[in-house]
Amino acid sequence: MEANRKKGRYRRILKQLEELLGSTGDADARMATIAALLHHKMEYFFWTGFYCLQGGELIVRTYQGPLACQVLEKNKGVCWAGINRQKTILVPDVHAFPGHIACDPRSKSEIVVPVRDRNRKIIGVLDIDSDLLNAFDEIDAEYLGKIVEMIPA
Ligand code: SME
Repeated sequence: MEANRKKGRYRRILKQLEELLGSTGDADARMATIAALLHHKMEYFFWTGFYCLQGGELIVRTYQGPLACQVLEKNKGVCWAGINRQKTILVPDVHAFPGHIACDPRSKSEIVVPVRDRNRKIIGVLDIDSDLLNAFDEIDAEYLGKIVEMIPA
């Protein structure tokens, strides 16, 4: 998507989320609303959801899109890279990412953004796959980073 169009889309999503997320401080509800809104507003998002840490495992939470893996093998793939490196991971071509976990063969590129609680501790990741190559860039990283900051009450 063209840069200015993408920025405009994200700005409208942020505004809408500011209104929608006000009704509860429940993090699960907020993640569900974020996944649904992003998935339906961004046509290049093929899978949109969250994996959260529980007992040292990364377990799937709310998502939109095709069926996904429930548990991700520890320290493997893009989601675990986001947790272990404590930063956003942009993957232009998933087949070139060593250890990438293919929940659906149609996924071609991916972005993973760490999610923190109000004490700044990482609790999971926002994971988005696209069925287009090289779909995500610094604009996605910037705005998705702002969006996950809205999760802690
Ligand atoms: N590709 C991810 C696994 C989750 S799916 O994309 C929904 C990974 O390598 O961690």
